[in-house]
Amino acid sequence: MNKIAFNVQQAFETRFGSRPTHLIRAPGRVNLIGEHTDYSGGFVMPLALEQAHWIAVRPRNDQAVILHSLDYDDSTKVNLTQPQLHLKGWQEYLNGVVWVLQEENWPLSGWEGVMAGDVPQGAGLSSSAALETALIRTFAEVSEISWKPKIAAKLAQRAESEWVGVSCGIMDQLISACGVSGHALFIDCRNLDIQQVPLPERHRVIILDTKTRRGLVDSHYNERHSQCKEASRILGKSLLRDATLSDLDAQSASLKPLLYRRAKHVITENERVLQAVNAMRAGDHQFLGQLMQDSHKSLRDDFEVSNTALDEMVECALSAPGCLGARMTGAGFGGCAVALVTAEKEGDFVNSIRECYLKKMSLQPQIISCTPADGASRHDPLTEL
Ligand code: GLA
Repeated sequence: MNKIAFNVQQAFETRFGSRPTHLIRAPGRVNLIGEHTDYSGGFVMPLALEQAHWIAVRPRNDQAVILHSLDYDDSTKVNLTQPQLHLKGWQEYLNGVVWVLQEENWPLSGWEGVMAGDVPQGAGLSSSAALETALIRTFAEVSEISWKPKIAAKLAQRAESEWVGVSCGIMDQLISACGVSGHALFIDCRNLDIQQVPLPERHRVIILDTKTRRGLVDSHYNERHSQCKEASRILGKSLLRDATLSDLDAQSASLKPLLYRRAKHVITENERVLQAVNAMRAGDHQFLGQLMQDSHKSLRDDFEVSNTALDEMVECALSAPGCLGARMTGAGFGGCAVALVTAEKEGDFVNSIRECYLKKMSLQPQIISCTPADGASRHDPLTEL
């Protein structure tokens, strides 16, 4: 039984006096390859994690939403008949989701719920996208609106960019809504086509949390987004996804060196994702690992979203037993790296990372061995607590 599901249900019963009608879950994600490409309409290959947000929920007869967060030990109330306010903190996500669903004319019903999650926050594992997705799934259930994962992902992305103010791409919300257990998803972020790619057998995807978090991530992120837009404008493309390295070289005189490097990352990263899909399908794990390493260098040198801790972590990983490749994952500036490791060497790999990273950064990393999970789901309450 999932511990968080147990906790939210138990807390619901204590707080609201009887059982919830159901439990909603939406997962975080780790991206294997294809970083900072989604908002240029490019390719990504994330997988959904077992780590997720859970909400124990019961519909109400009125237009109120009452939500208690176990993680923040804090409650919030929203009146669905009044316009939402911008608030700081976790309530912002609920208000943003209500705002976007009302913009889309969803006939929302009230509910009460208790939520908690185990997606590490600010770590580049999409805790906020998971929360938005869980909230949209909850509204869909209580308001009896059929669940359409791609539409939900687009709405969650809109809440994040237009309400919360981070002009993110679609990757995080899409994988949280559409994830498939045992698989990574190869996503074309222009038309949202999704193909399932089985993870390499006898290999493990391992998340390495540097435990560094950098402030101002949002402003750096938005800046990268604008730089990509500017580069595509100069290259005469509606999306950078349509540019090639020859286009870039043909226009190199009109692009400042910084914009050239940003565009080069996006163009080469898209190519790497296509190669990675083929490598995974062909069982060429060595090549997949090489592509991950190349991706890290490009993010570090051309897109400039790594930090010392991520670079050291990747170095530690590459010198650890059984590692085929490693790279930073997510928006960057801190957070997590991801490594591909042969399953039989996992224990040695983990020990080596702990020792190496502690020596280099005087920090204890958090290490998560991934089992790819399904996207957002609805569950019956647990019968025995
Ligand atoms: C964040 C954003 C995503 C994506 C990644 C970088 O997670 O939410 O849309 O751009 O950064 O790949």
